[in-house]
Amino acid sequence: MVREVRITKTEPLRIDESDIDPKYGDIAICQCGLSDDRPFCDGSHKRTDDEMEGVIYRYTETDRKVVESLTLTEEEI
Ligand code: FES
Repeated sequence: MVREVRITKTEPLRIDESDIDPKYGDIAICQCGLSDDRPFCDGSHKRTDDEMEGVIYRYTETDRKVVESLTLTEEEI
């Protein structure tokens, strides 16, 4: 599967001890791209549980669509 994710950040975020989750004692970094608290995981990856191999997904805040291919419009370039 492929997932389209739009990220507008242009610089790194330094992580330190204050970022450790007191409940779990660790720092979970989002790798799915859907977290509203990036770079940290907020559990949004659960939306990807039923993604299928070979399918391209485009996510919005409330929805998910299957798309044929990933292409950029003039405004997005
Ligand atoms: S890995 Fe992205 S929200 Fe958890």
